[in-house]
Amino acid sequence: MLDIVIKNGKVVHPDRTIETDVGIRDGKVVLLGKAELMPEAARYVDATGKYVIPGGIDPHTHFEDPPFMGAECRADFFQGTRAAAVGGTTTCIDFAVQGNYGTRLPLDVIGMRLEMARKSAIDYAFHAVVTKNDPETIGQIQEIINMGIPSFKCFMTYEAEGIMADDATILAVMQEMKEHNGIFGAHTENDSIASRNIRQALAAGKGDAIWHALTKPPLVEAEAINRVLFLAKSTGAAFYDFHMSCKEGVEMIASARKQGLPVYAETLTHYLVLTQDVLEGPDGPNYICSPPLRTQDHVDALWQGIVEGNVHTVGSDDNAFDTKQKRMGGPSFESVPNGIPGAEFRIPVVFSEGVSKGRISVNQFVAITSTNAAKILGLYPRKGIIEVGSDADIVLIDPGIEKTIRVADSSLDLDWTPFEGLKVTGWPSMTISRGKVIVEDGQFKGDAGHGEFLKRKLPGDINTRQIV
Ligand code: URP
Ligand code: ZN
Repeated sequence: MLDIVIKNGKVVHPDRTIETDVGIRDGKVVLLGKAELMPEAARYVDATGKYVIPGGIDPHTHFEDPPFMGAECRADFFQGTRAAAVGGTTTCIDFAVQGNYGTRLPLDVIGMRLEMARKSAIDYAFHAVVTKNDPETIGQIQEIINMGIPSFKCFMTYEAEGIMADDATILAVMQEMKEHNGIFGAHTENDSIASRNIRQALAAGKGDAIWHALTKPPLVEAEAINRVLFLAKSTGAAFYDFHMSCKEGVEMIASARKQGLPVYAETLTHYLVLTQDVLEGPDGPNYICSPPLRTQDHVDALWQGIVEGNVHTVGSDDNAFDTKQKRMGGPSFESVPNGIPGAEFRIPVVFSEGVSKGRISVNQFVAITSTNAAKILGLYPRKGIIEVGSDADIVLIDPGIEKTIRVADSSLDLDWTPFEGLKVTGWPSMTISRGKVIVEDGQFKGDAGHGEFLKRKLPGDINTRQIV
């Protein structure tokens, strides 16, 4: 007896689409083929006209973050993952930042984040963020990898917030990644150049939201990418660029990949659809995030990077602050907490802007929203693919549904969304997490605590081969 059979749909892989039914039992995909030839199932789901895709993997969320730039995150692990599930995401990878909650060592904060995340509605994992290079910190890295957290991140900015890693720390973490089979990632922005620009702008009375983008131009991001690529090449470490936003980044990643280096770029939903023009609108401060939104040529370059295989994943960087929080520090851009929500709309927006608008194939869509993250970050083939033996994390996309995104319809209790008014074609109509239907026709039917911590393991050659 099977639990569920999904019939008549098009199962989408990163490299092909096949018409096959999918048999699910005990949370796993157990059969692919014709439903008539499968054992009977407790439930049949008709997917006629729909794409059957591997559940979305969001490689970049910030749920239940501690106060950042003075503001408390408005989505805890349950609220955030529930919204993500409604939008077709079945796995999120969040962060455990050394120093947060007054912790000293990475393992302390990891323990706290594991506890907080137990209420998640979908499966979850963590990137470990290292901010210091004292021997005790660096000495914990191997143990962290062994406990299923093999991806690390350093912030190259946020010195004022106390979480910036200096270059020596970056080098030390890279060396550990190389030695113990981890993957190094970074938030790439040059802190001191941005700080100088910000000081000058504020001294000249330029505090409007647009100056956030103008004081952190592509040069700020590109210099940091260039520096970290050099260090990665020198140490032989793989590199994952978190939330890349600029065309210079695409060019540098492309050039490094041409040399055969194992480097990858993540971009975010908002960098693919919004430009810095929104910073000049009435809700300008809401859109302040780092790196900032850019001009249309950068948006186009990121799409081209996806098409050419130089941008590999799309995250949300979900960091939910409401309008009041965004304004609480006063009118100047530099007192606005950085970060915007987006986990809920990542899949529909990327599907609509990518597949429905003809920029990418449905297979490329699956690659950038699920499979590539699973492969690069150590979840494959348990996640990121619909194959016999994989977790039954499956989303049905109805390409015919047309909607206009409205915050009133959001499952997040927030007063704004960066995608307000965006018309989308294609929408997830069902989300299945490990064999359980947790969202149906937009209604959340899951439970807090359904999500499990995912112990990840990277391929042994992560630092020497391009995984995707
Ligand atoms: O503006 C952003 N991206 N806020 C979240 C923290 C980070 O930089 O990832
Ligand atoms: Zn970041």
